[in-house]
Amino acid sequence: MKTNVLMVCLGNICRSPLAEGILQRKVNPEQVFVDSAGTGGYHIGKAPDPRSIAVARKYGLHIENQQCRQFQKSDFQKFDVIYAMDLSNFNNILKLAETPEDENKVKLLLTEVDLPVIEVPDPYYDDNGFEKVYQLIDTACTAIAKKL
Ligand code: 4NP
Repeated sequence: MKTNVLMVCLGNICRSPLAEGILQRKVNPEQVFVDSAGTGGYHIGKAPDPRSIAVARKYGLHIENQQCRQFQKSDFQKFDVIYAMDLSNFNNILKLAETPEDENKVKLLLTEVDLPVIEVPDPYYDDNGFEKVYQLIDTACTAIAKKL
């Protein structure tokens, strides 16, 4: 059976579009479906941030066709694993959980790897943060793809 994985950040324009594209490239699309969403609704319908598009392109990855959407309660039914980029996203997703089963699906992305940080930092106000964000997400997605 297919595993459905959802990547979640705040805006769904910087971090989670990268996580969606990076994990997608590392898995067999017949076995794993990857999507992304934001806990906030500020950018619904928009393409990813140009800075995320640029860092992805640097590594040969095209994410510009993605479209921002907001996380919904129904995502708990659709997805097997929900990865939050930071603790704020993690807590906001958990607030929408209705059952222990829902709660168990929510994980902090960087807990999949042994790193000195547990959050993917929000790069929205840091033009220089996108490379670091890419590397953190890439490391975590390599571990996830191996496990799936
Ligand atoms: P993201 O970054 O959560 O990685 O997509 C952000 C994007 C937009 C905003 C904050 C963070 N914003 O405040 O509009």
